[in-house]
Amino acid sequence: MVKKVFITRNIDEEVIQTLATHFQVEVWHSEHHACPREELMKQAADSHALLTMLSDQVDQELLDHAPQLEIVANLAVGYDNIDVKAAAEKGITITNTPDVLTDTTADLAFSLLMASARRIVEAADYVKQGSWQSWSPYLLAGSDIHHKTIGIIGMGKIGEAVAKRARGFDMTILYHNRSRNHEAEQNLQALYRTLDELLQESDFVVCLAPLTEETKGMIGAEQFALMKETAYFINAGRGPVADEKALIHALQEKELAGAGLDVFEKEPIDSSHPLLSMKNVIAVPHIGSSSFETRKIMMELCADNITHVLTGNDPLTKVH
Ligand code: DGY
Repeated sequence: MVKKVFITRNIDEEVIQTLATHFQVEVWHSEHHACPREELMKQAADSHALLTMLSDQVDQELLDHAPQLEIVANLAVGYDNIDVKAAAEKGITITNTPDVLTDTTADLAFSLLMASARRIVEAADYVKQGSWQSWSPYLLAGSDIHHKTIGIIGMGKIGEAVAKRARGFDMTILYHNRSRNHEAEQNLQALYRTLDELLQESDFVVCLAPLTEETKGMIGAEQFALMKETAYFINAGRGPVADEKALIHALQEKELAGAGLDVFEKEPIDSSHPLLSMKNVIAVPHIGSSSFETRKIMMELCADNITHVLTGNDPLTKVH
């Protein structure tokens, strides 16, 4: 019997064709709309593998309706959209795409930091809207980045890659993590701080923590109040780690200078969301790892994981 793979979004054609040489492959083809829940449930019912996006909920209900499922290959390093415990109980392998997206995601996090500090979006809009009448000394003046202090929350691979970039800007690097990262301390001169200390001392707080029971809502009103009034909050991890209501309040009360956000509590964010009307907020649609090169490598890794598992071999990047 030929095993079935369902891919929940249109991905690279070469990757689809490679899978199709061994398996029956079905793809949700829409460019603009995520695979509806009913369709995912229907397809999962007779699939042996699912290649999912971070926006697909792989929960107990779905797993209960997928009696033949052997693997879910998630096209992301984060896997908070998947009930890993329920999958383990059913012997279903879950894989993600670590390492291959580290630099690309760090580039995006650092871009948000730079764009926020130097008001790039505001300045570009200003020129495009024809508002530029004359040069003036403080026209769209922003904050320096070089020689400032960056505080990285979540010092895993992506955190280290952000720290590397910060070193090029002669920044002081602080970090907070569940456990000490001795390599980052040694190789990147990163200094460990408690969360409160990091928030108080940093000019840029970059949040890269994964979403877990412990990190949900970890940056709330109390934490924003600790930040410097001149500091920027960057989130390129997961939206629910920061409390958006508290962030809005802190920005309105000028407890911090601005925010650069790749991730949100609810994605896609509503176009009427108050954060989107704030000049000092840069919001992008969860594009951390979105470069053509990296996305292709991520897709290939998902396909390799699926091929390995469906042919009785060990997956390459199983989540713990
Ligand atoms: C992921 O892959 O989990 C990140 O959100 C990168 O965009």
